[in-house]
Amino acid sequence: MCDWEARGWGWGLHAPSPWLILSLLLSAMPLGLLGEETRQVSLEVVQDGMDPKQNLLHIRAVGTNSTLHYIWSTLGPPAVLVVATNTSTSLLSVNWSLLLSPEPEGGLMVLPQNSIRFSSAIIFTRLFEFDGTNTSDTSTDPPGKPYPPYSLAEFSWNNISDSLDVANLSAMFQGCLTNDSAFANGSLIFRVQAFSKSGRPLQPPRLLHTADTSQLEVSLVGAKPRGNRSLFGLEMAIVSKSPDCPAMREQHSIDDEYNPAIFQMDQLFWGSLLPGFIQWRPVAFSQKRGSRDSALPCRASHPYPTMAYLLPQSPISRAFFGSQSSMCALNLTFGAATGPGYWDQYYLSWSMILGVGTPPMDTFSPLVLGIMAVALGAPTLMLLAGGLFLMLGPKQYSEYQAIN
Ligand SMILES: *[C@@H]1O[C@H](CO)[C@@H](O)[C@H](O)[C@H]1NC(C)=O
Ligand SMILES: *[C@@H]1O[C@H](CO)[C@@H](O)[C@H](O)[C@H]1NC(C)=O
Ligand SMILES: *[C@@H]1O[C@H](CO)[C@@H](O)[C@H](O)[C@H]1NC(C)=O
Ligand SMILES: *[C@@H]1O[C@H](CO)[C@@H](O)[C@H](O)[C@H]1NC(C)=O
Ligand SMILES: *[C@@H]1O[C@H](CO)[C@@H](O)[C@H](O)[C@H]1NC(C)=O
Ligand SMILES: *[C@@H]1O[C@H](CO)[C@@H](O)[C@H](O)[C@H]1NC(C)=O
Ligand SMILES: *[C@@H]1O[C@H](CO)[C@@H](O)[C@H](O)[C@H]1NC(C)=O
Repeated sequence: MCDWEARGWGWGLHAPSPWLILSLLLSAMPLGLLGEETRQVSLEVVQDGMDPKQNLLHIRAVGTNSTLHYIWSTLGPPAVLVVATNTSTSLLSVNWSLLLSPEPEGGLMVLPQNSIRFSSAIIFTRLFEFDGTNTSDTSTDPPGKPYPPYSLAEFSWNNISDSLDVANLSAMFQGCLTNDSAFANGSLIFRVQAFSKSGRPLQPPRLLHTADTSQLEVSLVGAKPRGNRSLFGLEMAIVSKSPDCPAMREQHSIDDEYNPAIFQMDQLFWGSLLPGFIQWRPVAFSQKRGSRDSALPCRASHPYPTMAYLLPQSPISRAFFGSQSSMCALNLTFGAATGPGYWDQYYLSWSMILGVGTPPMDTFSPLVLGIMAVALGAPTLMLLAGGLFLMLGPKQYSEYQAIN
C-alpha cells in the first residue's frame, strides 16, 4: 500500500494532475473532528493492587458529551484498546484477577456499557526481519528471505510509571528479549502521545493530530540485525465487532510542505456509524533526526481476516471483546535493500495516528494556497468572464438583432 515507486512515492517530482488539484481544492475544508475542539486529557497507570508489575496505561480524553479511552497494555503483545462513549463520565473498570486469568472475558470494561459508540483493539503481534541482500525489487512480498520472527508477546517491558510524562501527555513502553543476544543493547520502543487539541509536532513525519487522536511512534533501537542488509517488518492485528476487515485508502496531496516529497497518506478505517482509523505517511526514518536523507519507504499489505489463535494473544482484547469479535491482520515493512537502512545506525522509527471519527486532513499551507491562487487565478477569471458572456451575451446579441 505504501508502495513508493509504483504509486508515486519518491523523491523525484511527481507532478499532480490538474484534476487532483481541483478535487483537492474543492475538498480543502476545515479539520474534521468528532465534534470536540479540545479535550481534558489525563494519563493514569492502572495497577494491580496485588502485583504492581501488572499495569495498564489509561488515557482518558473527556469532551463536553463524549469520552475517548485509549487503554495501552503490554500484558501479552503490546496492544491498545480504543473505546469511544457518548458521555463525559464513562469509566474504565478492571478486575485484575479475571484479566490475568486464562479466561479473561469480562476482566476489562468501560462503563456504562450502553454509552459505547465505538470499540476496537490494535495489537502489535510480531517483529519480522528479512535478509534484503539479494532483493532489488522493493515491491516483492516478503522483501527477502525471512529470519525467524520475534513474538512481541515474549518481550519484557519497562516500568511504564517511570516513563510517564503527565505534562506532555506521553509515555513509553520499552521492550527487549532478555534471553536473546540481539537485544543485549537494543530495544523496541512504543512511544504513546495523547493530545488535548489540534496541532502538528516538529518531529518528522509531522503528522497532523486532533484532540480525538493519539500518536504512536514505534522505534527499533540498537538491536543487532541478523544480516548485513536486514529489513524489518511489523505485524499488526485489528480486533473489532464488525466482521469486515478495515478498508485501506490512500490519500494524495500536492502539498508536501511538512513532508518533503511525500505526497501520500495511507489510512485504514473501520466500524460503521462512528469509524475508527489509523493513518500514516508511507515513510520511516533510519536516524533519530528524521530527514530526507534518512527516509525509508514503508509498505503495508492489505488487512486480511485471521484466526486469533494463530497470533500472540492479547489479554486486554480478549477481556473486553470475549469471543464476539473478529480479527484482521496486516504487515508493514520498512526500507529497501538500497538507500539508507537500519544498518546505518541501528535505528528505525515509524509513526501513526489513531483515533475515532473523521481523520485529520491536511489543509493547504498558506504557501501552497498562494501559489495556487496565482496559478488558478487567471484561468478562473477567464472562466468567470466566459460564463458571464454566455449568460449576458446572447441577450445582447438578440437585442442587436432586434435593432437590425
Ligand atoms: C514502577 O515505578 C513506580 C514509580 O517509579 C513505582 O512506584 C512502582 O513500584 C514501580 N513498579 C514496579 C513493579 O517496579
Ligand atoms: C453535545 O453537547 C452540546 C451542548 O453541550 C450540544 O449542543 C450537542 O448537540 C451535543 N452533541 C451531541 C452529539 O449530543
Ligand atoms: C472479579 O472477578 C472474579 C471472578 O469472576 C469475581 O469472583 C470477583 O468478585 C470480581 N471482583 C470484583 C471486584 O468484581
Ligand atoms: C544471493 O544471490 C547470489 C547469486 O545469485 C547467491 O549466490 C546467494 O546465495 C544469494 N544469497 C542469499 C542470502 O539468498
Ligand atoms: C553492548 O554494548 C557494550 C558497551 O557499549 C559493548 O561492550 C557490548 O559488546 C555490546 N554487546 C553487544 C551484544 O552488542
Ligand atoms: C556481511 O558483510 C561482510 C563484509 O562485507 C561479509 O564478510 C559477511 O559474510 C557478510 N555477512 C552476511 C551474513 O552476509
Ligand atoms: C507478515 O509477513 C510474514 C513474513 O513474510 C508472514 O509470515 C505473515 O503471515 C505475514 N502476516 C500477515 C498478516 O500478512
